[in-house]
Amino acid sequence: MQASHCRRLEGKSIIVAGGSSGIGRVSAFRLAEEGARVIVAAPEGEVARLDAVVAEIAARGGAARAQIFDATCDDSAAALVARAESEFGALDAVHANFADLRAIHDDSDAVEVSDEIFDRTLDVNLKGMLRLTRHAVPALLRRGGGALIYTSSTASLAGEPTRPCYAMSKGGLNALVRHVAVRWGINNIRANAIMPGFIVTDENRDGIPSDWLDYMMAQTRAVRLGRPEDIAAMVAMLASADGEWINGQTIAVDGGSILH
Ligand SMILES: NC(=O)c1ccc[n+]([C@@H]2O[C@H](COP(=O)([O-])OP(=O)(O)OC[C@H]3O[C@@H](n4cnc5c(N)ncnc54)[C@H](O)[C@@H]3O)[C@@H](O)[C@H]2O)c1
Repeated sequence: MQASHCRRLEGKSIIVAGGSSGIGRVSAFRLAEEGARVIVAAPEGEVARLDAVVAEIAARGGAARAQIFDATCDDSAAALVARAESEFGALDAVHANFADLRAIHDDSDAVEVSDEIFDRTLDVNLKGMLRLTRHAVPALLRRGGGALIYTSSTASLAGEPTRPCYAMSKGGLNALVRHVAVRWGINNIRANAIMPGFIVTDENRDGIPSDWLDYMMAQTRAVRLGRPEDIAAMVAMLASADGEWINGQTIAVDGGSILH
């Protein structure tokens, strides 16, 4: 792997759920670069992208496997955790990163939005996180502890005129994180959420109108917009021993935009 980062995660077995693109893809790269063996997971339609992530990690000298995973299915969450244990002998950490970002386009406002969009958003973004937690916690207990790192959003705090279901799903996720931290901290399990600000990814870059980029830049109390690498660095730290005393936190990695 590239030698630019220290190898704090040597030998660790880590799941990146929602790792086929965007933030999750770069998180998988960073974790592998620091020495972790990574299970990269996403739904069936993302197999080609998953395989590309795994191939790139292998090309850089790391270890990764692809796993089909649908957050709306409890058996799929169980199979994902089982794969980490069967493939790498144990589970040390999970980056639970997935969200249904297609539903956001119809997530208009609290008067107009349909029950279908609410149900879909919550089923993936919140209930999916509960399903994965349900199966990950016993595996981490078998290991003697570990880290759960969830991708939330500054939308969970901000108050925005649109996408109420998305914000509700992420607000609920923050509550799940605090519950897991309090319930299993004594068992050496740490649960934290990262709240990214606006992150320009390879996948969303081309679809962003330039006036939106200008608007987001004006919101950001920094000299640039966010990159997936900014989030991946926090994931790696929280998964490592450097994050051992951090539990139950929702951490904004947003260039200060939440202060706006
Ligand atoms: N990009 C941003 O500006 C931003 C800002 C704040 C929060 N986030 C959060 O970061 C995370 C990643 O977002 P991204 O921008 O990289 O988007 P993305 O679309 O590139 O990544 C989403 C991932 O979730 C997976 N996914 C979607 N539905 C799934 C399902 N039913 N089961 C399992 N996996 C599923 C996708 O396959 C993909 O791997 C999300 O949780 C998102 O809410 C992103």
